[in-house]
Amino acid sequence: MLTAQATTNGATNGATSAAGKYHGYDHLTFWVGNAKQAASYYCTRFGFEAVGYKGLETGDRDVASHAVRQNNIVFVFQSPLNPGNTEFGDHLQLHGDAVKNVAYAVDDCRRIYEAAVARGARSIRAPWVEKDANGSVVFATIGTYGDVEHTFVERTNYKGDFLPGYVPARGGQPDALLSLLPPTFLEYVDHIVGNQPDLEMVSACEYYEKTLGFHRFWSIDDKMMHTEYSALRSIVMTDADEVIKMPVNEPAAGKKKSQIQEFVDYHGGAGVQHIALRTKDVITSVSNLRARGVEFLSIPETYYENLKLRLQTSAVKVTEDLEIIKKLHILVDYDENGYLLQIFTKPVEDRPTLFIEIIQRKNHQGFGAGNFKALFEAIEHEQDKRGNL
Ligand SMILES: [Fe+2]
Repeated sequence: MLTAQATTNGATNGATSAAGKYHGYDHLTFWVGNAKQAASYYCTRFGFEAVGYKGLETGDRDVASHAVRQNNIVFVFQSPLNPGNTEFGDHLQLHGDAVKNVAYAVDDCRRIYEAAVARGARSIRAPWVEKDANGSVVFATIGTYGDVEHTFVERTNYKGDFLPGYVPARGGQPDALLSLLPPTFLEYVDHIVGNQPDLEMVSACEYYEKTLGFHRFWSIDDKMMHTEYSALRSIVMTDADEVIKMPVNEPAAGKKKSQIQEFVDYHGGAGVQHIALRTKDVITSVSNLRARGVEFLSIPETYYENLKLRLQTSAVKVTEDLEIIKKLHILVDYDENGYLLQIFTKPVEDRPTLFIEIIQRKNHQGFGAGNFKALFEAIEHEQDKRGNL
């Protein structure tokens, strides 16, 4: 079983200490061609609801922002309003619709930012404050891998729905379609994975270690993680309290093209590959996401025959009905103490880049290493259909 071999590494010698506390993921910002329609897709398919809007009507003359929320998960979709916006235009032509910013909720934005920049972080924007009638929020932004950024959000003095400057979406009118659809029960972001070009994984991880005081939580190499055709290496970086989990992948040589390399080719470099969203009830979540039209990767029947055999000799008992798990194409990974249930969508846009994972954990903090082979084979099947294997 691969998970048992996966190494958990503590902070390496000489690691910098953290400059502040991380409360979790605050929100993710996507730069897309049409923010209004992208927000609607995540509402109808994934069960989000509109939480706020900024645009021409709010005095924001350059960029439209549509924020959607589901429990503790907030996605913001942004598009440029005017012709000739090369900052957005260049990003869109290179990456397509993509995650631009992963924002962390922190206790002390200025301290974390200043320590990060002093340790070599690439500053995008020095600390600034935004206010409205509900209070004030402190922000600061640094760059990370590729064109992805991290904003530190200190919102302890803010009582509003989301962030200053946002007004209720749709003029406060609910989207009538959403009340007809079954709830998806997605609760918070579990982890966010970044793919790197070959041989850039270690430097991307060292950046988190050096600038933010993160440490290695878990790692896996290509001797463990390969199929007949392709391979990857992965390191999971985390903050001192292990609240934020940022796995970082790179391709490894195989007989055919790694799915990580396919991502890098279509994304135009390093970027966010998948966002894992946590549920307490993966069977209901996935059943209802399927009912809403979300497309997931298919897993071959042999995986479930193998799983049943392997579980017979395991101390862990999976309480969910394995026939339902098989019918829904959910993957199971376990060790002697617990298990996780996970499933991966097909790419959520035309480029084979970003996808979404749905995950339920039962006393198991791994990342599904025991499923990487089955997952890779399912992705390779799709890759082959795209002519990219
Ligand atoms: Fe994942």
